[in-house]
Amino acid sequence: MLLHGQPPPALRPGELRPAAPLLALLLLLPLQQAAAAAPAESGGFEVPGWRQDTQPPRSLLQQAARAALHFINFRAGSPSALRVLTAVQEGRASIRSKEGCRVDLVFTTERYNPEEGEGHLGKCSARVFFKNQKPRPAINVTCSRLIEKKKREQEDYLLYKQMKKLKNPLDVVSLPDSYGHIDPSLRPMWDLAFLGSSYVMWEKTTQFLYYYMIQLHSVKQWKINDDAIDFDYTVLLHEFSTQEIIPCRIHLVWYPGKRLKVKYHCQELQTPEEASGTEGSAVAPTELSNF
Ligand SMILES: *[C@@H]1O[C@H](CO)[C@@H](O)[C@H](O)[C@H]1NC(C)=O
Repeated sequence: MLLHGQPPPALRPGELRPAAPLLALLLLLPLQQAAAAAPAESGGFEVPGWRQDTQPPRSLLQQAARAALHFINFRAGSPSALRVLTAVQEGRASIRSKEGCRVDLVFTTERYNPEEGEGHLGKCSARVFFKNQKPRPAINVTCSRLIEKKKREQEDYLLYKQMKKLKNPLDVVSLPDSYGHIDPSLRPMWDLAFLGSSYVMWEKTTQFLYYYMIQLHSVKQWKINDDAIDFDYTVLLHEFSTQEIIPCRIHLVWYPGKRLKVKYHCQELQTPEEASGTEGSAVAPTELSNF
């Protein structure tokens, strides 16, 4: 039933896209914007007890960027604001053996569903703190905007209207289907599923484990409640280093412009002693002005 060796057509979150040479030019503008938006405090590095690593391994920076990206996607609470990672530009890490590892980094992102001719990069500055072996890194992040707020609201509303019109969504067996294809009419559903998964993936990420959504496995419920989309579904998450496939049941409620609510329960296949799995729930915070 699984799609190993059959990657979904969508870009995986946290995966790098090959950078086009032209992007170097486009970078100049967001660079300046982000410099202004970057957190002012950098004094954290002088705190005694932290060993500063000025040349942290690339894998650590990538991992911090992936975690921050899941967090950003969840926090935005909007299927048309979804981003993917383009490149990590710089980073520093401080390690305190008893506590964990703190990474400060700058990375670029672009839209998950770019429109024709769009090549805009959004720059993000983040501080990510991985507690030793523990999931759910603490994250502070500021990003330059990828699309105007108004345009995003319009796009969200458009997606919402398409979602409301979906015929028999409960018949959706899996996305992508066995040919690796996502029907365009189901794309908004995929995006919404992806949005909910971002929260789960952020909560499960550790310094060494990272996840991406490979399949919308089944739809248990799809209804409109007080105008909000009430969506209960199962996704398969793939953990990269262990190659584990983890089914997670996610229940979310979304209405454009309102807070996204997410609840989940993941089944841990490889650890029977934790048969109950992991679970959590959250409400995306109201929109932050810098986002
Ligand atoms: C994020 O910012 C808050 C408030 O400034 C601070 O308490 C928290 O420790 C920061 N978290 C990280 C990971 O830097």
